[in-house]
Amino acid sequence: MSQSSFPHRHLLGIEPLSKGDIVTILDLADTFATISEKPIKRVPTLRGKTVINFFMEASTRTRTSFEIAGKRLSADVISLSASGSSVAKGETLMDTAKNLDAMRPDVIVVRHSSAGSPHWLAKNLSCSIVNAGDGAHEHPTQALLDCATIRREKGRIEGLTVAILGDITHSRVARSNIHALGKLGAKVRVAGPRTLLPEGIDRLGCEAFDRVEPAIEGADVVMVLRLQSERQARGLIPNTREYARYFGLNARRLAAAKPDAIVMHPGPMNRGVEIAPDVADGERSVILDQVTYGVAVRMAVLYLVSGAPEPDGG
Ligand code: CP
Repeated sequence: MSQSSFPHRHLLGIEPLSKGDIVTILDLADTFATISEKPIKRVPTLRGKTVINFFMEASTRTRTSFEIAGKRLSADVISLSASGSSVAKGETLMDTAKNLDAMRPDVIVVRHSSAGSPHWLAKNLSCSIVNAGDGAHEHPTQALLDCATIRREKGRIEGLTVAILGDITHSRVARSNIHALGKLGAKVRVAGPRTLLPEGIDRLGCEAFDRVEPAIEGADVVMVLRLQSERQARGLIPNTREYARYFGLNARRLAAAKPDAIVMHPGPMNRGVEIAPDVADGERSVILDQVTYGVAVRMAVLYLVSGAPEPDGG
C-alpha cells in the first residue's frame, strides 16, 4: 500500500479524515497484523526512522502499543513521560517539544490533557505529530483500533448499530468513534446520565438516550466507557454504586442486544462500575482483541505518517 493513498502528514483526529483515509489505515493494519503472529516479530519497514512517544498523561495500552508498533517495524522508539522529563522542572510543553524536534525525530506521538495540543505542536514542529489523546477532544488511534476490531469480528461496519454507553461528555474515545463509525456507515447511539451527555451531541450524527436500555436494544456492538473522573466536575453522578445500578452494563441489560453482539471497552476498566466482571470476561467480550489489533493499527499509522518507503508486507 502506498503512502500517497493517505494524504496527511499528521494524525490529529478522525474528524479531518475521509472514509477512504480510514479504510486505508484499516486495510494496512490487516496486512501488518500478520507480523505480530510470527515467531520473529520484526520487519525492516521503518529502519532508520525515529519515533518519540511523549506522554504527559498516564497510559498503559496506548503508550506500550505505539512502542511495540514502532519496534516491530524496526524504528528507533524513545518514550518520555511528564514526570521523567524537564516538564517536571517547569519547562513548557512547547519548549520541551521543540527540543525533542531539534533531535530530528520523524514522528512525535503525544498525549496531553489539553484539547488541541497536538494541533498546536503540528503547526510549530517539523516532524509528524500523532495524537494519542488530547483532553476530552479526540483519541483517533483508539477509534481506529475499535473500527478494526469491529470489522474483523463482524466482517463489516456499514449498517451495524453501535451503542456507546457511559461518560460521553468527557470521552475522547466516544468523540473519535462517533466520527469514525459514522463515516464508515454505522448507526451510532450514545447513552448515559443526562449530566454526562453533552448538549447537541446528536449534531455529530448519533442518536442520544438518557437511559442505556433503549440504546442497547438490538445493537450489534456495545461499547462501554469509563467514568473519566480525572476530567469530571464533582456531583455529576450520586456515587459509583448508583451509577452501576442504573447505567452499568450487566448480563441482564446485554440480553437486549443482538444474540451475537460483541462487547467492547477501550480500557482502563472500572470493574463493577460501568461493566460487570462477568460481562467484561464473558464470551461476547472482545476487549483484549481490541488491544491486540491496536498494535497493528498503530503500525499502520506510524508507517503512513512517517514517509517510509513501500512496506514489504512482512
Ligand atoms: N485506551 C487507552 O487509551 O488506554 P491507556 O490510557 O492505558 O492508554
